[in-house]
Amino acid sequence: MNRMLVQLGKTDLLVSRICFGSWQLSPKFWGEIDLEPWREAIKKALDVGVNFIDTADAYGDGHSERELGKFLRRENLRDEFVLATKFYWNFEKDQRHPDTSYDYILRECEASLKRLQTDHIDLYQIHSWDPLTRPDEVALALNKLRRQGKVRWFGVSNLNPEQMRLYMQHMDVECLQPPYSLLDRRMEDAELPFCLSQRMGVITYSPLFRGILSGKYAKDHTFQDPRSNNPYFTGEPLKRLLEGVDEIRPLAEKHHLTPAQFAVRWILTHPAVTSAIVGIKNAEQIETIAPAAEKTLPTEDWHKAAKIMSRAKKEADKML
Ligand SMILES: NC(=O)c1ccc[n+]([C@@H]2O[C@H](COP(=O)([O-])OP(=O)(O)OC[C@H]3O[C@@H](n4cnc5c(N)ncnc54)[C@H](OP(=O)(O)O)[C@@H]3O)[C@@H](O)[C@H]2O)c1
Repeated sequence: MNRMLVQLGKTDLLVSRICFGSWQLSPKFWGEIDLEPWREAIKKALDVGVNFIDTADAYGDGHSERELGKFLRRENLRDEFVLATKFYWNFEKDQRHPDTSYDYILRECEASLKRLQTDHIDLYQIHSWDPLTRPDEVALALNKLRRQGKVRWFGVSNLNPEQMRLYMQHMDVECLQPPYSLLDRRMEDAELPFCLSQRMGVITYSPLFRGILSGKYAKDHTFQDPRSNNPYFTGEPLKRLLEGVDEIRPLAEKHHLTPAQFAVRWILTHPAVTSAIVGIKNAEQIETIAPAAEKTLPTEDWHKAAKIMSRAKKEADKML
């Protein structure tokens, strides 16, 4: 059981190294999932030392925030968790589009607070880069929300260092949420070093590459949810990626880890990374991933695994 909490960047937030990802409540991307096992997972999270939840207003157009809010209120658990959410996708009308305008941010923050049934958001993140709104306009809205006590700290997601710098001229940016995994190492050259240099927190998403790195699927597995539309999740590319996972199995076993735990421990070994956000559907998933946070990997094994999965990814890419 991991009860170790770490400081998120320069904030006063103390978070677990595993963060509970709740994008899974977005039927468009994950199909309909059962809510009762998911609710049990939230309770289980606390038992296994996970006190950090990531969501977004856009996950299921409010569904994820709404269900979280209902459950945390019903069980009186709001104050047990550090709650991170995001804004960016305006889904008020049928055609969703990026929107980080002053008025929209103020309106959408109220909507998130209402859905989450809370009076404050611990970490409010800009979901992605909006080319049409000036960073000083965004900061005006966010700094107002902070003065009102509705938001404690700000983060960003999917931004490069230059974009982060633009926001930082007008507001504090304490945390980056980038994709990062054994199958997606694009952040290593610029974003992760930048965050280290700024003493920012980093909470990485898709640590299992949406499940592939868990090692639980057979090579001819057919995904029954919208992942089947992703070319990495079918046919030859899937087979190549899963061959890579088979190759790292002995390394995982050497450390008494499942492939899923190994993949997450690999991420948490990077010195820039504060927490890995794992997408959770049931109590077993949060319980079995929690031990990944207990230690780090030896350098040699970290590089060995990276090399194996980089090769598998290159081979899969050739099949796309
Ligand atoms: N900021 C952004 O733009 C952004 C983008 C994507 C995600 N995120 C955040 O990051 C979170 C995680 O990313 P993700 O959902 O893309 O992918 P992920 O965490 O890499 O994969 C999630 C999938 O892994 C499997 N899994 C989870 N725990 C497991 C365990 N203990 N053992 C075996 N398999 C396990 C489940 O697959 P099955 O469904 O097959 O059981 C689950 O649906 C999201 O929930 C969200 O909060 C943010």
